[in-house]
Amino acid sequence: MPKKVFVRTFGCQMNEYDSDKMADVLNASEGYEPTDRPEDADLILFNTCSVREKAQEKVFHDLGRVRHLKMANPNLLIGVGGCVASQEGEAIVRRAPYVDLVFGPQTLHRLPELLSARRLSGKSQVDISFPEIEKFDHLPTPKAAGPAAFVSIMEGCSKYCSFCVVPYTRGEEVSRPLPDVLGEIAALALGGVREVTLLGQNVNAYRDSTSAGNCDFTDLLDHVADIPGIERIRYTTSHPRDFTHRLLEAHSRIEKLAAHVHLPMQSGSDRILAAMKRGYTALEYKSIIRRLRAARPDISIGTDIIVGFPGETDADFESTMDIADEVGFDTSYSFIYSPRPGTPAAGLKDETPHPQKLERLYRLQEKLDALESGIGERMVGTLQQVLVEGLSAKDPGELAGKSSHNRTVNFPGDASIIGRFTDVRITQARRHSLRGELTPVASAVTA
Ligand code: SAH
Ligand code: F3S
Repeated sequence: MPKKVFVRTFGCQMNEYDSDKMADVLNASEGYEPTDRPEDADLILFNTCSVREKAQEKVFHDLGRVRHLKMANPNLLIGVGGCVASQEGEAIVRRAPYVDLVFGPQTLHRLPELLSARRLSGKSQVDISFPEIEKFDHLPTPKAAGPAAFVSIMEGCSKYCSFCVVPYTRGEEVSRPLPDVLGEIAALALGGVREVTLLGQNVNAYRDSTSAGNCDFTDLLDHVADIPGIERIRYTTSHPRDFTHRLLEAHSRIEKLAAHVHLPMQSGSDRILAAMKRGYTALEYKSIIRRLRAARPDISIGTDIIVGFPGETDADFESTMDIADEVGFDTSYSFIYSPRPGTPAAGLKDETPHPQKLERLYRLQEKLDALESGIGERMVGTLQQVLVEGLSAKDPGELAGKSSHNRTVNFPGDASIIGRFTDVRITQARRHSLRGELTPVASAVTA
């Protein structure tokens, strides 16, 4: 019987990606098969996040819940990876001695070595170093698992926003070499992938180190657009500070670029943006959006917003509310500021009472939800090009895919069209998805 690994993922898309890579590397080295039942697993991995909330406590709480499995099965191994591991290191083993492996986002490719060192020594292993980008040289070649794939193009972040822990847990920005990225996408395209999402904390800071700094993110997009089989390109996340004129222009020139950009704004107040060290003003943010819309009139914009940053006044918050209306954000995420140990903002005086922050968050989320629903309603009756990714999670009798605007669309249809683009007429807007029907032409093609 093959050994089984259970991976529990917290946090961002980078973590989802890393979890897939953990499963790949363990499968290639030791034949581990994934399982979604921790009680069946020979190895349990937690891929943790420390960007918000009391992540450490959550990890220890969840670890406590699998501890009994180890009592029942002494051969069971438990590992903690991701950003909490990176931040806490040895402290995890001190507090939870039954943890066998601790590894960071940049050392997950060393899992096989860590496992054998654990077996040989009988001791817990900790490796949270930042060995540059070596990770990608040691991961198995990815296989296509459906028509849409994520491809990591860079790791880490060097922006050091004053509230954010990512530069400390994932390290500074390091780009993958261009030939590696293009090779990986070409291989995925041969395996049936039609849409790629270029992934990184700050993708538009991409710089290919193999071509003497000549290839930036816009050049990368051009190269990806040239790969046969790739019909749609997304990227996440980008930073307003690195949104160059050339990148804006690429959105009108490169047809394969999806009509959607996720561009975190964080706040609409210049005072708060400066305290966050974001490196742009509200006007500059709006100017990027205006020029993006000029380049690609149907583009939808998603964002991230933090409320209750230390020193945020009612007036600051109202500026954020105003910009949300002005821009008309599509799907967005908003959070209450959470002080992160080791970040500069954690030392700032914060006098806003928590209930007031909560009230701001509710008001903002109400607005963001209304904006998102409004956009959904206006899509009813329109024709959307949908990449059919599989059966709908909620109703296996229906198909599910994404529109160019990154909206999930469910519609009745035959499973034979999974993996292809098709035109879907939107018939109904739901809370976080759209319903539609195949057009007569699209139905005829698939009949
Ligand atoms: N570069 C990534 C940022 C990762 S963190 C990106 O741009 O997506 C994702 C989001 O979490 C951030 O955009 C921010 O809105 C939020 N966030 C980060 N640190 C936070 C903190 N200390 N408190 C509250 N929200 C935070
Ligand atoms: Fe964090 Fe700012 Fe980078 S939010 S990931 S430090 S761009």
